[in-house]
Amino acid sequence: MSIATTIELISNGRAAGATCTPDLAAPTWDFDTVPGYGPGSSMSDVIPTSAPRQGVIPDEYRNAPDDELHERIERAKATLGDRVVVLGHFYQRDEVVRHADFLGDSFQLANAALTKPDAEAIVFCGVHFMAETADILARDDQRVILPNLAAGCSMADMADIDSVEAAWAELTALYGTEPDADGRVPVIPVTYMNSAADLKAFCGRNGGIVCTSSNAATVLEWAFERGQRVLFFPDQHLGRNTAKAMGISTDRMPMWNPRLAGGGNTAAELLEAQVVLWHGFCSVHRRFTVDQIAQARREHPGVQVIVHPECPMAVVDAADVAGSTDLIRKTVAAATEPTTFAIGTEINMVNRLAAEYPQHTIFCLDPVVCPCSTMYRIHPGYLAWVLEALVRGEVLNEIVVPAAVQIDAKVALERMLAAKPRPLAGQRDPGPAATGTAAPSAAATGTAATTTVRA
Ligand code: 13P
Ligand code: SF4
Repeated sequence: MSIATTIELISNGRAAGATCTPDLAAPTWDFDTVPGYGPGSSMSDVIPTSAPRQGVIPDEYRNAPDDELHERIERAKATLGDRVVVLGHFYQRDEVVRHADFLGDSFQLANAALTKPDAEAIVFCGVHFMAETADILARDDQRVILPNLAAGCSMADMADIDSVEAAWAELTALYGTEPDADGRVPVIPVTYMNSAADLKAFCGRNGGIVCTSSNAATVLEWAFERGQRVLFFPDQHLGRNTAKAMGISTDRMPMWNPRLAGGGNTAAELLEAQVVLWHGFCSVHRRFTVDQIAQARREHPGVQVIVHPECPMAVVDAADVAGSTDLIRKTVAAATEPTTFAIGTEINMVNRLAAEYPQHTIFCLDPVVCPCSTMYRIHPGYLAWVLEALVRGEVLNEIVVPAAVQIDAKVALERMLAAKPRPLAGQRDPGPAATGTAAPSAAATGTAATTTVRA
């Protein structure tokens, strides 16, 4: 399938040209040598100079027609058999998802990395922090591969270890280190899964934990059992939405701007704080607005609005359901009557759900096609390239987290794996009947071989 066809499919019948940039029609590798996240929702975000770049891959992969790439990937996977496992995030394009052995949200994929101890290689069709997590959790001799090294995450890049260490030094100087009468320390660091491995290690060594969007509520409870406050990074929106659902007042959630002394807050504000929120956000989910929800309700009476908790608080408040990518999927899967769903998350996932559940009317809240710039960077050409290299015995694009970072990061990740997914307070889980069984249909992905991982 050509990129133009993909865009056409992504736009799902919307007005031609309703994309956030015409560059989406260009081949992915056109952006390998230029700095930046590439076309899509993060294209205006500032990319750190240290962000990995992808070198140009051989012509044979760039010039191959889509059918040929598909066959080459299948052949390489068949040759490798159980020696390789391909993991795919829900936001990956269909031409990649069809080759995934496991499809899931970030919590499920972290678990999936543990389910194939015999595989010599884990090929992660997702973004950099997910591949790092797989490397930390996988057996030492398993090799983790990210097909395009430029598949980072602009939100993860909004917090770096130096800025977090500096914030921590300021906060601990203000709060001290003495536990209160209940044995709770002054502050617990919580990092969203969407963060670099060294930030997960920071949490591991400072009594903290990692969360994903599916278990953020359980994780915040864990943190408040052990601490009086939380420093939550990098996603302000997930932190705010989760804490608010627990009943914490937004007045007690100051934002920490790493470029300002005290994060831009007075000492009194920080002393009152229950959750200090890092100034980070996702450029995909920031596109969703209350006006879009109002329009969907006007045009589709009875519409169910489901959004990801990376959306701003006003959007989450105006929606009917807010939850992780898997909760979004389960909510749609659980609907027994034909329903109209307006969904506020990445467009590839929304359109896959629309194809998978034709009995429902499903559309993206944002009328403009603007995929996640970095998930989008994994094109089947890169997947064919890394898999055929594996067949030859070569490991390309390996993600290796330094051993010293792994040790502490694993502590925080193991705490996260023990924190069970559960919806934000006030949200309903559609229930186990809908969990983890729906494989994308042939219509949606061209193959039914994909398995969705059980949470
Ligand atoms: P999930 O954990 O819900 O899959 O979210 C990951 C992500 O990057 C959302 O933007
Ligand atoms: Fe990062 Fe947002 Fe893309 Fe998720 S959707 S990978 S948070 S930029």
